[in-house]
Order: sequence, then structure tokens, then C-alpha cells
Amino acid sequence: MTQSITRTLTLLGASLALAFSASAFAKPIVVKFSHVVADGTPKGQGAIKFKELAEAALPGKVDVQIFPNSQLFGDAKEMEALLLGDVQIIAPSLSKFDRYTKQLQLFDLPFLFDDMAAVDRFQHSAAGQALLDSMTNRGLQGLAYWHNGMKQLATNKDKLTVPADVKGLKFRVQASDVLEAQFRALDANPQKMAFGEVYQALQTGVVDGQENTWSNMHSQKFHEVQKTIANTNHGVIDYMVVTNSKWWDGLPDDVRSGLADAMKQATTYANNLAAELNERDHQRIIDANKARVQPMSKEDIAVWREAMAPVWKKFEKDIGPDLIQAALDSNQ
Ligand code: LMR
Repeated sequence: MTQSITRTLTLLGASLALAFSASAFAKPIVVKFSHVVADGTPKGQGAIKFKELAEAALPGKVDVQIFPNSQLFGDAKEMEALLLGDVQIIAPSLSKFDRYTKQLQLFDLPFLFDDMAAVDRFQHSAAGQALLDSMTNRGLQGLAYWHNGMKQLATNKDKLTVPADVKGLKFRVQASDVLEAQFRALDANPQKMAFGEVYQALQTGVVDGQENTWSNMHSQKFHEVQKTIANTNHGVIDYMVVTNSKWWDGLPDDVRSGLADAMKQATTYANNLAAELNERDHQRIIDANKARVQPMSKEDIAVWREAMAPVWKKFEKDIGPDLIQAALDSNQ
């Protein structure tokens, strides 16, 4: 009797020791998060917050590594890297999913949303949330939308008031057919280009202009190589944080739910910060006094809106009229 109790206790001790050492030596799951912008931008700050929250919620279980500024890949490569499992999370702008779904082209329609509050309302709507699952058949799972802000139009010319001012100019665009069509509607020449190459292209005159948010322009010093930035608010740059669906579905349940929770909190944080960072960088660009910031009146904007309107017709069928209507309904 005593012998069998001793044997049982010994066995129990041995298996506990084994379990303990296995967990003590279990390696954390590496979560590589790659993106193309600087740490000080809304997306950069969101990624840092996600790392803090995820590692605090899952101590020893995850190691979140952030690679900002196209350190690992430029935006042409990061989607493939995600699908190959070389990184686990990326957050491309909504303009960069052309090849995976036509529905997200919605976000590039010029003058679709009145402001960021409307963008936010749409993203929280049933139609907006459904888009997070629109690429699962391609192996991509959307986890969240992150805000950056409204786009401004900039060139290396002194005058930028009416659409005729950009006629014949070369513009860098993100990898989006809608944005390409937008500049063609203005009789300008769009050129798709990775974000990391834009500064040099502007500096050397490969392109004359570009469109982006205040925070992206300031962090890349675009205002130092542009003459005029018109305050057009003609479109939006926001992100979908995406993961490889196979990797995500294969995670242990506690890790997946811990990461999902950290993502939810990081999203609230990043989205509350985005407007503040864009306002800050708008002011910094004005104060730097390198590019002139051109205010636009309602009447000026109406002319640009009309010039860009043909783009809607061209993409309406691919995007879906119902989805466009749902987005329009979020303007109040
Ligand atoms: C761009 O390519 O201009 C942006 O999408 C970059 C970014 O990720 O904000």
C-alpha cells in the first residue's frame, strides 16, 4: 500500500516536472507585424500599442515583432509575404487590395465620404464589417480597420486651385485602379509606385505630385519636395489589418482570443489618435513653410468633385451599387 502510494506520487511528480519544464521552455509564438510607414504615424503607433497589449495579455506566449518603414518588404511584396507565412500581420491601406477583392475599391471613390466620422460609421456598419471577411477565400482574414485620414493633393507647381492645374502632370498613386482612373479623369498621368519610393521620385522629378494624408506627408518629408499642398480632403487613406487565415485559425484558442482582444483595444487607441496626429502634422507642415498649404473653398471643391465624378460610373458595377449606397448612407 505505502509502496504503491510512493510510486504514484513519484510518477505524479515526474509528470508535473515534465509539464513544468515543457511550459518553461516552450518558445513564444512569433508574430511578425510588417508595415511601410514610420513609428510616429497613426499606423505605427497602433502597431506599437498592439505589441504592448498582446505581450501583456499573453506573457511568454507571444513575441510580437514590428518592422516599420518597409524594413522587411515594400508594399508590393508584403501581401505575398503574408500568404507565404513570412510575416503574420500587415496593415495595407484599403487601396492596395485590388488584386484580392474588388469590393474594397469602394474606399478609393473620390469624395465618397464627407469626413472621417462618416468613414468610421461605415466601417462599424454591417456592410463595413462584412468586408473584413471578403478575402477569406484568398487566405486573408481582416482583423480590424485602422484610420489614417483624409487625403490632400500636392504638386511641385505654384498653382493648384482648379483641375486644369494638374493637366499633364505625373502623379504617384498607390496600387489601385480607381486612383489611376481618378488622375486620368483629371487629364493627368498616374504612376503606380510603392510608398517607400515616393520621396525620391518627387525629389528627382520622376513624378510631379502625389496625394496622401498630412501624417504620411510629414513623416516622409514630402512637403520639402512639393511646392503646393491643396487641402482637398478628396479621399481617404485607411487600413485593413489582415492576417493569414490559415495561421490565425491554427493558433491555440487562448492565443487567438488574446490577440483578437489586444487588436480590439489597439484599434480603439489608434483610431482615437489618428485625427490628432494628422492635425499635428498639418500644422507642422504649415510651420515648416516649405510647401505652401492651399485652403480650398466649398466652391473650389465642387469643381474637383465634378471633374472626378466619372470614376464612380466606371467602377460602380465591380464594387456593387448597394455597397456604394451603404457608404453614402454613413454621411449625415
Ligand atoms: C501609401 O502608399 O501612400 C500609403 O498607403 C502608405 C500607408 O501605409 O499609409
